[in-house]
Amino acid sequence: MRFEGKAALITGAGSGMGRAMARAFQREGAQVVAVDVRAEAAEQTVAAMSAERGGRDSFALAVDVTDGAAVDAAVEQAIARTGGLDVLCNNAGVLDGYAPAHETSLDLWQRVLSVNLTGPFLLARRIAPHMAERGGGAIVNTASISSFVAGGGGAAYTASKHGLLGLTKQLAFDYGRDGVRVNAICPGAVATEMTASLRVPSEANAHVDAQIAATPAGRWAEPEEIANLALYLASAEASFIHGTPVLIDGGWTLS
Ligand SMILES: NC(=O)c1ccc[n+]([C@@H]2O[C@H](COP(=O)([O-])OP(=O)(O)OC[C@H]3O[C@@H](n4cnc5c(N)ncnc54)[C@H](O)[C@@H]3O)[C@@H](O)[C@H]2O)c1
Repeated sequence: MRFEGKAALITGAGSGMGRAMARAFQREGAQVVAVDVRAEAAEQTVAAMSAERGGRDSFALAVDVTDGAAVDAAVEQAIARTGGLDVLCNNAGVLDGYAPAHETSLDLWQRVLSVNLTGPFLLARRIAPHMAERGGGAIVNTASISSFVAGGGGAAYTASKHGLLGLTKQLAFDYGRDGVRVNAICPGAVATEMTASLRVPSEANAHVDAQIAATPAGRWAEPEEIANLALYLASAEASFIHGTPVLIDGGWTLS
């Protein structure tokens, strides 16, 4: 129960790693604010959590993380209902269809950057000072192997995830003295909705299978394995870790 009496706001909580994080934080005692642009998906996460923990006080908020006014209102509501936030997991993200630059429209570029980079900024600029005022907290940003290497996404996705590491470091630099630790998790291939089409056995996906088979782990990660790292980085056990990207990729980036 590493998060008993604490509150965690998790974006992208309607699916995949965000849902796994929501369940993991609640399992460890936290009240969870499950944020997702898909209201029904976020509600389903909370329903699953209620079944697991006999209806704790976790709740869902339907928010588009790219909408500054909506984020501000949601943060205000989350703080009012929880009494104060201890953890922020900036996890919502979208892929870009692996488009190279010449096939990336300005709309696609802006949408991917908005969700993957502007969203975490909009949440952090409200929640980091709030945490600082309360004496501390932890922010965990879901970055990617695409924060280090090319090919895990297209031009927009790779740029957005590189940018998210920059934001992580600057937030850590600016708020660390106030007790707010900011770190990033950098997953490789994880079995979620985002990657569902890549996991359908087909000729087109043969190169993905080969790439994964060549890693030391030799398999896709389960979302729960990534959630465990988010728990650790947000916990007191990680008290000396500031501004650090942690790879969790089954060895994908070793060679
Ligand atoms: N799946 C992978 O292999 C992988 C690898 C590395 C990094 N990531 C990153 O992990 C994070 C989670 O991905 P996942 O695989 O669980 O994906 P997912 O598609 O299963 O879940 C993403 C969730 O984010 C929500 N979302 C999308 N846009 C949003 C917005 N504007 N506002 C609020 N919520 C929004 C979606 O509705 C969805 O519920 C993403 O940031 C992704 O880039 C994924």
